[in-house]
Amino acid sequence: MRLMKNVCIFLLISVISLPAWSQYNEQYAIGKTNGLLLTGKLAPTPPMGFNTWNTFQTKIDEQMLREMVDVFVSSGMRDAGYQYFVLDDGWMAMERDQNGNIIADPLKFPHGMKAFADYVHTKGLKFGIYNCAGSKTCAGYPGTRGHEYEDARLYASWGVDFLKYDWCNTDSLYAPEAYKTMSAALRATGRPIVFSICEWGDHKPWLWAGGVGELYRSTGDISANFIVRKPQGNWTPQSVVSILNLQEAIRQYNGPNHWNDPDMLEVGNGMSYDEDKAHFSLWCMLAAPLAAGNDLRKMSAETRSILTNKEMIAVDQDSLGIAAFKMALPDSVELWVKPLKNKGLALCFFNRTETLRKINLTWKDLVFKDNFSGIDIHLNSEPYAFKDLWQKQSGFVLANKNFTRELAPHAVIVLRLTTAK
Ligand code: GLA
Repeated sequence: MRLMKNVCIFLLISVISLPAWSQYNEQYAIGKTNGLLLTGKLAPTPPMGFNTWNTFQTKIDEQMLREMVDVFVSSGMRDAGYQYFVLDDGWMAMERDQNGNIIADPLKFPHGMKAFADYVHTKGLKFGIYNCAGSKTCAGYPGTRGHEYEDARLYASWGVDFLKYDWCNTDSLYAPEAYKTMSAALRATGRPIVFSICEWGDHKPWLWAGGVGELYRSTGDISANFIVRKPQGNWTPQSVVSILNLQEAIRQYNGPNHWNDPDMLEVGNGMSYDEDKAHFSLWCMLAAPLAAGNDLRKMSAETRSILTNKEMIAVDQDSLGIAAFKMALPDSVELWVKPLKNKGLALCFFNRTETLRKINLTWKDLVFKDNFSGIDIHLNSEPYAFKDLWQKQSGFVLANKNFTRELAPHAVIVLRLTTAK
Protein backbone atom coordinates (compact mmCIF):
# COMPACT_ATOMS: atom_id res chain seq x y z
CA MET A 1 0.00 0.00 0.00
CA ARG A 2 2.73 2.40 1.08
CA LEU A 3 4.75 1.46 -1.99
CA MET A 4 1.75 2.25 -4.18
CA LYS A 5 1.43 5.62 -2.49
CA ASN A 6 5.09 6.43 -3.04
CA VAL A 7 4.79 5.38 -6.67
CA CYS A 8 1.76 7.64 -7.09
CA ILE A 9 3.57 10.57 -5.49
CA PHE A 10 6.57 9.96 -7.73
CA LEU A 11 4.31 9.88 -10.79
CA LEU A 12 2.66 13.09 -9.65
CA ILE A 13 6.05 14.74 -9.25
CA SER A 14 7.05 13.51 -12.69
CA VAL A 15 3.89 14.83 -14.29
CA ILE A 16 4.29 18.23 -12.67
CA SER A 17 7.88 18.53 -13.83
CA LEU A 18 7.16 17.12 -17.28
CA PRO A 19 7.58 20.25 -19.36
CA ALA A 20 11.09 20.87 -18.04
CA TRP A 21 12.11 17.23 -18.30
CA SER A 22 10.84 16.72 -21.82
CA GLN A 23 12.57 19.91 -22.96
CA TYR A 24 15.81 18.53 -21.59
CA ASN A 25 15.16 15.07 -22.98
CA GLU A 26 14.81 16.36 -26.48
CA GLN A 27 17.91 18.50 -26.31
CA TYR A 28 20.33 16.20 -24.57
CA ALA A 29 18.87 12.71 -24.74
CA ILE A 30 19.09 12.55 -20.96
CA GLY A 31 19.63 9.15 -19.49
CA LYS A 32 21.80 7.60 -22.14
CA THR A 33 25.34 8.14 -23.31
CA ASN A 34 26.97 5.37 -25.29
CA GLY A 35 24.34 3.02 -23.98
CA LEU A 36 25.09 3.83 -20.32
CA LEU A 37 22.24 4.74 -18.11
CA LEU A 38 23.04 8.00 -16.37
CA THR A 39 20.11 8.14 -14.04
CA GLY A 40 21.64 7.80 -10.59
CA LYS A 41 20.07 5.87 -7.75
CA LEU A 42 22.84 6.71 -5.34
CA ALA A 43 21.05 9.22 -3.14
CA PRO A 44 17.50 8.11 -2.33
CA THR A 45 17.67 10.50 0.63
CA PRO A 46 19.70 13.76 0.79
CA PRO A 47 23.42 12.96 1.13
CA MET A 48 24.92 13.79 4.54
CA GLY A 49 28.55 14.40 5.36
CA PHE A 50 31.28 16.89 6.05
CA ASN A 51 33.07 19.26 3.66
CA THR A 52 36.32 21.12 4.33
CA TRP A 53 35.58 24.39 2.52
CA ASN A 54 33.55 26.54 4.93
CA THR A 55 36.16 26.39 7.68
CA PHE A 56 39.47 25.50 6.07
CA GLN A 57 39.27 26.66 2.45
CA THR A 58 42.50 25.33 0.87
CA LYS A 59 44.37 24.99 4.19
CA ILE A 60 43.97 21.25 4.46
CA ASP A 61 46.49 18.49 5.06
CA GLU A 62 46.51 14.80 5.79
CA GLN A 63 47.29 15.08 9.51
CA MET A 64 44.53 17.57 10.26
CA LEU A 65 42.07 15.61 8.10
CA ARG A 66 42.81 12.34 9.86
CA GLU A 67 42.02 14.06 13.16
CA MET A 68 38.76 15.28 11.68
CA VAL A 69 37.87 11.80 10.46
CA ASP A 70 38.48 10.45 13.96
CA VAL A 71 36.24 13.10 15.52
CA PHE A 72 33.63 12.51 12.83
CA VAL A 73 33.26 9.08 14.42
CA SER A 74 33.89 9.81 18.12
CA SER A 75 31.55 12.83 18.21
CA GLY A 76 28.60 10.74 17.03
CA MET A 77 28.33 12.37 13.61
CA ARG A 78 28.67 9.05 11.82
CA ASP A 79 26.09 7.42 14.06
CA ALA A 80 23.72 10.31 13.46
CA GLY A 81 23.79 9.49 9.72
CA TYR A 82 26.61 11.59 8.27
CA GLN A 83 28.49 9.51 5.74
CA TYR A 84 30.61 11.42 3.22
CA PHE A 85 33.93 12.99 4.21
CA VAL A 86 34.58 15.43 1.37
CA LEU A 87 37.76 17.33 0.52
CA ASP A 88 36.94 20.55 -1.26
CA ASP A 89 39.31 22.72 -3.31
CA GLY A 90 43.05 22.76 -2.71
CA TRP A 91 43.93 19.07 -2.32
CA MET A 92 45.85 18.90 -5.60
CA ALA A 93 49.34 19.87 -6.63
CA MET A 94 49.53 23.06 -8.70
CA GLU A 95 50.47 21.10 -11.85
CA ARG A 96 49.47 17.76 -13.34
CA ASP A 97 52.33 15.24 -13.69
CA GLN A 98 54.20 14.63 -16.97
CA ASN A 99 51.52 12.14 -18.04
CA GLY A 100 48.70 14.59 -17.47
CA ASN A 101 47.53 12.89 -14.28
CA ILE A 102 46.21 15.03 -11.49
CA ILE A 103 48.13 14.43 -8.27
CA ALA A 104 47.53 15.19 -4.63
CA ASP A 105 49.81 17.93 -3.24
CA PRO A 106 52.72 15.83 -1.89
CA LEU A 107 53.32 18.28 0.95
CA LYS A 108 49.72 18.21 2.10
CA PHE A 109 49.27 14.48 1.44
CA PRO A 110 52.68 12.82 1.87
CA HIS A 111 51.11 9.35 1.65
CA GLY A 112 49.04 10.14 -1.43
CA MET A 113 45.28 10.36 -1.83
CA LYS A 114 44.61 6.62 -2.04
CA ALA A 115 46.07 6.17 1.46
CA PHE A 116 43.83 8.92 2.82
CA ALA A 117 40.76 7.48 1.08
CA ASP A 118 41.59 4.10 2.60
CA TYR A 119 41.78 5.69 6.05
CA VAL A 120 38.33 7.23 5.57
CA HIS A 121 36.94 3.88 4.47
CA THR A 122 38.39 2.03 7.47
CA LYS A 123 36.16 4.24 9.64
CA GLY A 124 33.04 3.11 7.83
CA LEU A 125 32.74 6.42 5.99
CA LYS A 126 32.64 7.32 2.31
CA PHE A 127 35.20 9.53 0.64
CA GLY A 128 34.49 12.61 -1.45
CA ILE A 129 36.68 14.90 -3.50
CA TYR A 130 36.37 18.15 -5.48
CA ASN A 131 37.25 19.41 -8.90
CA CYS A 132 35.93 21.81 -11.45
CA ALA A 133 34.62 21.70 -15.02
CA GLY A 134 36.93 24.55 -16.03
CA SER A 135 40.63 24.74 -16.83
CA LYS A 136 41.34 25.69 -13.22
CA THR A 137 39.41 25.35 -9.98
CA CYS A 138 38.00 28.40 -8.24
CA ALA A 139 41.14 28.55 -6.07
CA GLY A 140 43.44 28.23 -9.10
CA TYR A 141 44.39 24.53 -8.96
CA PRO A 142 44.30 22.29 -12.05
CA GLY A 143 40.73 21.82 -13.30
CA THR A 144 39.28 18.88 -15.18
CA ARG A 145 38.53 20.34 -18.62
CA GLY A 146 39.79 17.90 -21.26
CA HIS A 147 40.69 15.27 -18.64
CA GLU A 148 37.21 14.10 -17.66
CA TYR A 149 37.55 10.37 -18.34
CA GLU A 150 41.12 9.96 -17.05
CA ASP A 151 40.32 11.91 -13.88
CA ALA A 152 37.19 9.85 -13.29
CA ARG A 153 39.18 6.63 -13.67
CA LEU A 154 41.84 7.91 -11.28
CA TYR A 155 39.22 8.92 -8.67
CA ALA A 156 37.61 5.49 -8.98
CA SER A 157 41.01 3.82 -8.46
CA TRP A 158 41.47 5.87 -5.28
CA GLY A 159 38.07 4.76 -3.99
CA VAL A 160 36.27 8.07 -4.39
CA ASP A 161 32.55 7.81 -3.59
CA PHE A 162 31.45 11.43 -4.18
CA LEU A 163 32.62 14.16 -6.56
CA LYS A 164 31.75 17.83 -6.11
CA TYR A 165 32.21 19.48 -9.49
CA ASP A 166 32.50 23.28 -9.62
CA TRP A 167 32.08 25.86 -12.38
CA CYS A 168 34.99 28.36 -12.34
CA ASN A 169 37.13 29.18 -15.41
CA THR A 170 34.72 27.52 -17.80
CA ASP A 171 34.78 30.28 -20.50
CA SER A 172 32.33 29.24 -23.20
CA LEU A 173 31.49 25.77 -21.84
CA TYR A 174 27.80 24.94 -21.81
CA ALA A 175 26.83 23.78 -18.34
CA PRO A 176 24.36 20.96 -19.18
CA GLU A 177 26.85 19.43 -21.64
CA ALA A 178 29.88 19.83 -19.37
CA TYR A 179 28.11 18.20 -16.44
CA LYS A 180 26.70 15.45 -18.64
CA THR A 181 30.22 14.65 -19.88
CA MET A 182 31.61 14.30 -16.36
CA SER A 183 28.56 12.33 -15.27
CA ALA A 184 29.11 9.88 -18.12
CA ALA A 185 32.82 9.66 -17.23
CA LEU A 186 31.96 8.79 -13.63
CA ARG A 187 29.33 6.22 -14.62
CA ALA A 188 31.79 4.67 -17.10
CA THR A 189 34.17 3.81 -14.25
CA GLY A 190 31.63 1.34 -12.94
CA ARG A 191 32.14 2.67 -9.40
CA PRO A 192 29.10 4.24 -7.75
CA ILE A 193 30.17 7.87 -7.33
CA VAL A 194 27.64 10.46 -6.20
CA PHE A 195 27.89 13.47 -8.53
CA SER A 196 27.44 16.82 -6.79
CA ILE A 197 26.86 19.55 -9.37
CA CYS A 198 28.02 23.00 -8.28
CA GLU A 199 27.28 25.72 -10.82
CA TRP A 200 25.59 27.90 -8.20
CA GLY A 201 22.14 27.74 -9.80
CA ASP A 202 23.33 29.95 -12.69
CA HIS A 203 21.90 27.66 -15.40
CA LYS A 204 18.82 26.52 -13.50
CA PRO A 205 20.17 23.00 -12.89
CA TRP A 206 16.85 21.94 -11.35
CA LEU A 207 15.56 21.91 -14.96
CA TRP A 208 18.25 19.62 -16.40
CA ALA A 209 20.50 18.09 -13.74
CA GLY A 210 18.22 15.37 -12.41
CA GLY A 211 19.65 12.13 -13.77
CA VAL A 212 22.99 13.84 -14.47
CA GLY A 213 23.92 14.25 -10.81
CA GLU A 214 22.33 13.37 -7.52
CA LEU A 215 22.49 16.93 -6.13
CA TYR A 216 22.90 20.36 -7.61
CA ARG A 217 23.74 23.64 -5.92
CA SER A 218 20.85 26.02 -6.32
CA THR A 219 22.56 29.23 -5.18
CA GLY A 220 25.87 31.01 -4.78
CA ASP A 221 28.11 30.37 -1.78
CA ILE A 222 26.74 30.51 1.74
CA SER A 223 28.41 32.45 4.58
CA ALA A 224 27.98 32.35 8.34
CA ASN A 225 25.55 35.30 8.25
CA PHE A 226 21.92 34.78 9.08
CA ILE A 227 20.01 37.65 7.46
CA VAL A 228 22.35 40.27 6.03
CA ARG A 229 24.65 39.45 3.13
CA LYS A 230 28.06 40.88 3.98
CA PRO A 231 30.63 41.66 1.26
CA GLN A 232 33.91 39.72 1.36
CA GLY A 233 36.42 41.65 -0.74
CA ASN A 234 35.04 41.94 -4.27
CA TRP A 235 32.07 39.61 -3.89
CA THR A 236 29.10 39.11 -1.59
CA PRO A 237 28.19 35.61 -0.46
CA GLN A 238 24.67 34.60 0.43
CA SER A 239 23.21 34.52 3.94
CA VAL A 240 21.09 31.71 5.37
CA VAL A 241 17.88 33.63 4.80
CA SER A 242 18.79 34.92 1.32
CA ILE A 243 19.32 31.29 0.29
CA LEU A 244 16.10 30.21 1.98
CA ASN A 245 14.20 32.84 -0.01
CA LEU A 246 15.26 31.20 -3.27
CA GLN A 247 14.24 27.66 -2.40
CA GLU A 248 10.46 27.61 -2.24
CA ALA A 249 10.04 28.40 -5.92
CA ILE A 250 12.05 25.33 -6.91
CA ARG A 251 10.73 22.87 -4.36
CA GLN A 252 8.97 20.76 -7.01
CA TYR A 253 12.36 19.88 -8.53
CA ASN A 254 13.51 18.20 -5.33
CA GLY A 255 13.20 14.51 -4.62
CA PRO A 256 14.94 11.15 -4.27
CA ASN A 257 18.20 11.06 -6.26
CA HIS A 258 17.83 14.65 -7.47
CA TRP A 259 18.28 17.16 -4.68
CA ASN A 260 18.39 20.93 -4.77
CA ASP A 261 21.48 21.84 -2.76
CA PRO A 262 21.18 25.16 -0.88
CA ASP A 263 24.89 24.82 0.07
CA MET A 264 26.77 23.47 3.05
CA LEU A 265 26.03 24.10 6.69
CA GLU A 266 27.47 27.01 8.65
CA VAL A 267 26.36 25.56 12.00
CA GLY A 268 29.12 26.16 14.55
CA ASN A 269 30.81 28.84 12.45
CA GLY A 270 29.87 31.96 14.42
CA MET A 271 26.12 32.53 14.27
CA SER A 272 24.03 32.48 17.46
CA TYR A 273 22.62 29.27 18.94
CA ASP A 274 19.09 30.18 17.79
CA GLU A 275 20.37 31.03 14.32
CA ASP A 276 22.30 27.79 14.01
CA LYS A 277 19.25 25.84 15.12
CA ALA A 278 17.05 27.69 12.64
CA HIS A 279 19.58 27.20 9.81
CA PHE A 280 19.80 23.47 10.51
CA SER A 281 16.03 23.03 10.95
CA LEU A 282 15.22 24.93 7.77
CA TRP A 283 17.72 22.89 5.74
CA CYS A 284 16.07 19.74 7.10
CA MET A 285 12.67 21.14 6.16
CA LEU A 286 13.95 21.70 2.62
CA ALA A 287 15.10 18.06 2.41
CA ALA A 288 18.54 19.52 1.69
CA PRO A 289 21.84 17.66 1.58
CA LEU A 290 23.50 18.16 4.99
CA ALA A 291 27.23 18.85 4.79
CA ALA A 292 28.66 20.01 8.10
CA GLY A 293 31.22 22.77 7.51
CA ASN A 294 32.64 23.42 10.98
CA ASP A 295 35.84 22.31 12.67
CA LEU A 296 34.55 19.11 14.26
CA ARG A 297 37.56 18.97 16.60
CA LYS A 298 36.52 22.21 18.28
CA MET A 299 32.75 22.00 18.20
CA SER A 300 30.85 22.98 21.33
CA ALA A 301 28.32 20.72 22.98
CA GLU A 302 25.60 23.02 21.60
CA THR A 303 26.86 22.71 18.03
CA ARG A 304 27.13 18.97 18.39
CA SER A 305 23.61 18.75 19.79
CA ILE A 306 22.29 20.62 16.76
CA LEU A 307 24.16 18.62 14.13
CA THR A 308 23.30 15.29 15.73
CA ASN A 309 19.64 15.89 16.51
CA LYS A 310 18.43 12.57 15.12
CA GLU A 311 14.75 13.48 15.13
CA MET A 312 15.47 16.61 13.11
CA ILE A 313 17.68 14.59 10.76
CA ALA A 314 14.84 12.08 10.30
CA VAL A 315 12.73 14.94 8.94
CA ASP A 316 15.46 15.73 6.40
CA GLN A 317 15.86 12.07 5.49
CA ASP A 318 12.16 11.27 5.18
CA SER A 319 11.77 8.82 2.31
CA LEU A 320 9.25 10.95 0.41
CA GLY A 321 11.93 13.61 -0.08
CA ILE A 322 9.45 16.48 -0.30
CA ALA A 323 10.69 20.00 0.42
CA ALA A 324 8.59 22.23 2.66
CA PHE A 325 6.22 24.95 1.54
CA LYS A 326 5.62 28.19 3.40
CA MET A 327 2.51 29.63 5.04
CA ALA A 328 2.13 33.02 6.67
CA LEU A 329 0.80 33.22 10.22
CA PRO A 330 -0.23 36.32 12.23
CA ASP A 331 2.48 38.43 13.89
CA SER A 332 4.90 37.84 10.96
CA VAL A 333 5.53 34.24 11.94
CA GLU A 334 6.36 31.92 9.04
CA LEU A 335 5.21 28.34 9.08
CA TRP A 336 7.15 25.91 6.90
CA VAL A 337 5.30 22.64 6.31
CA LYS A 338 6.98 19.43 5.16
CA PRO A 339 4.80 16.46 4.20
CA LEU A 340 6.26 13.23 5.59
CA LYS A 341 5.60 9.55 5.03
CA ASN A 342 2.54 7.93 6.66
CA LYS A 343 0.56 11.19 6.51
CA GLY A 344 3.05 12.79 8.86
CA LEU A 345 3.95 16.47 8.89
CA ALA A 346 6.86 18.55 10.11
CA LEU A 347 5.94 22.11 11.08
CA CYS A 348 8.68 24.70 11.47
CA PHE A 349 7.58 28.01 12.98
CA PHE A 350 10.19 30.61 12.11
CA ASN A 351 10.72 34.19 13.26
CA ARG A 352 12.96 36.03 10.82
CA THR A 353 12.27 39.41 12.45
CA GLU A 354 14.46 41.16 15.03
CA THR A 355 11.83 41.12 17.81
CA LEU A 356 9.98 38.55 19.87
CA ARG A 357 6.90 37.12 18.12
CA LYS A 358 3.92 35.16 19.39
CA ILE A 359 2.42 31.99 18.02
CA ASN A 360 -1.19 31.79 19.04
CA LEU A 361 -3.31 29.41 17.05
CA THR A 362 -6.17 27.02 17.42
CA TRP A 363 -5.32 23.71 15.82
CA LYS A 364 -8.58 23.42 13.93
CA ASP A 365 -7.77 26.58 12.01
CA LEU A 366 -4.77 24.97 10.36
CA VAL A 367 -5.37 23.52 6.92
CA PHE A 368 -2.47 22.18 4.89
CA LYS A 369 -3.16 21.94 1.21
CA ASP A 370 -0.40 21.42 -1.30
CA ASN A 371 -0.91 20.62 -4.97
CA PHE A 372 2.63 19.37 -5.42
CA SER A 373 2.50 16.64 -2.76
CA GLY A 374 -1.26 16.23 -2.94
CA ILE A 375 -1.81 16.64 0.79
CA ASP A 376 -5.06 18.13 2.05
CA ILE A 377 -4.97 17.89 5.83
CA HIS A 378 -7.38 19.62 8.18
CA LEU A 379 -6.36 19.38 11.78
CA ASN A 380 -9.97 19.49 12.92
CA SER A 381 -10.74 16.18 11.27
CA GLU A 382 -7.62 14.05 11.83
CA PRO A 383 -6.33 13.06 15.27
CA TYR A 384 -2.63 13.93 15.48
CA ALA A 385 0.04 13.81 18.17
CA PHE A 386 2.98 16.21 18.09
CA LYS A 387 6.52 16.23 19.37
CA ASP A 388 8.68 19.34 19.69
CA LEU A 389 11.97 18.23 18.12
CA TRP A 390 14.12 20.73 20.04
CA GLN A 391 12.31 21.02 23.37
CA LYS A 392 11.43 17.32 23.30
CA GLN A 393 7.92 17.91 24.66
CA SER A 394 4.97 15.97 23.30
CA GLY A 395 1.27 16.67 23.11
CA PHE A 396 -1.91 16.08 21.21
CA VAL A 397 -3.41 18.18 18.48
CA LEU A 398 -6.98 18.67 19.65
CA ALA A 399 -9.21 20.64 17.33
CA ASN A 400 -10.26 23.28 19.84
CA LYS A 401 -7.04 23.47 21.76
CA ASN A 402 -4.69 26.42 21.39
CA PHE A 403 -1.01 26.22 20.66
CA THR A 404 0.68 29.24 22.20
CA ARG A 405 4.39 29.93 22.22
CA GLU A 406 6.87 32.78 22.11
CA LEU A 407 9.43 32.82 19.35
CA ALA A 408 12.71 34.70 19.89
CA PRO A 409 14.28 36.63 16.98
CA HIS A 410 15.71 34.22 14.39
CA ALA A 411 14.41 31.22 16.32
CA VAL A 412 12.39 28.20 15.27
CA ILE A 413 10.05 25.73 16.90
CA VAL A 414 9.79 22.44 15.04
CA LEU A 415 6.97 19.99 15.64
CA ARG A 416 6.61 16.55 14.14
CA LEU A 417 2.96 15.57 13.76
CA THR A 418 2.03 11.94 13.47
CA THR A 419 -1.42 10.46 13.08
CA ALA A 420 -2.51 9.41 16.53
CA LYS A 421 -4.57 6.41 15.43
C1 GLA B 1 33.13 27.72 -5.24
C2 GLA B 1 32.11 26.79 -4.60
C3 GLA B 1 32.43 26.62 -3.12
C4 GLA B 1 33.84 26.06 -2.97
C5 GLA B 1 34.84 26.93 -3.69
C6 GLA B 1 36.21 26.30 -3.78
O1 GLA B 1 33.02 29.00 -4.74
O2 GLA B 1 30.81 27.30 -4.77
O3 GLA B 1 31.49 25.79 -2.49
O4 GLA B 1 33.85 24.75 -3.49
O5 GLA B 1 34.43 27.22 -5.03
O6 GLA B 1 37.13 27.09 -4.45
